Amino acid sequence: MQQVWLGTGWKMNHTSREAEDYATALAMFVRGQSLVTRLFILPPFTALAVVAEILRDTQVMVGAQNMHWQSRGPFTGEISASMLAGCGAQLVELGHSERREHFGETDYSVNAKVHAALDANLVPLACVGEPGIEREFGVADEWVRRQVKIALHNVPSARLTRTIFAYEPVWAIGERGIPATPEQAAEMHRVIRNTLTELYGTGAAREIPILYGGSVNRDNAAGLLKQPNIDGLFVGRAAWQVDDFIQMIQLVENVTARRAYA
Ligand code: 13P
Repeated sequence: MQQVWLGTGWKMNHTSREAEDYATALAMFVRGQSLVTRLFILPPFTALAVVAEILRDTQVMVGAQNMHWQSRGPFTGEISASMLAGCGAQLVELGHSERREHFGETDYSVNAKVHAALDANLVPLACVGEPGIEREFGVADEWVRRQVKIALHNVPSARLTRTIFAYEPVWAIGERGIPATPEQAAEMHRVIRNTLTELYGTGAAREIPILYGGSVNRDNAAGLLKQPNIDGLFVGRAAWQVDDFIQMIQLVENVTARRAYA
């Protein structure tokens, strides 16, 4: 059985001081447990080093929310993969819909960043998901298939084992988001798995975790995790406070334990 993943991206929230408090409480919690869930948190750049240091030697992976695809150069305000690795990052989120909407991220730049992340030994967490209008017009599957295929363009299967996908329908994210039903999410996760299978074959495709994100909370988490092809959850608002994240971890642990004995 695939391991279950649970992570949170903080977006533009938490000063380094707040991040330190969050990470300290989380480290204390995870050090006292034997957890099976694969955990990650993605603080803003400014808190990455301090959070990575506090969570070093725990099972919580720490990553960034974006990076540039070049390794260095005249790109004022940008951050490279090796800079992230130097701060202790182990993974990097790429292509979140907020970056696509507000900062001109495209499928092609996501592909360049996937390659750069893999070169720097970072795990790329590639985000895909259709805007509501594409779903209304009945082309959500094509949209997401295209995003997956371009993200992985020229990525050989040998490097694929270090890649994670997140399906985050744009209409489900944030304050005004409507969470996907477990069935809607499962249907698109199946599409993504099939696309990966077409590209790399069944064995390799099965190894790639596909997480669901978009208004996940403690009420809908268990239902989503029961679905085939949903290998974990990627949470925003409902995990920005450490106590909420810890409760979500406990919930996912319980669901996973039940799944294992089912
Ligand atoms: P919300 O959980 O706040 O909808 O955000 C989801 C998200 O964007 C995770 O990347």
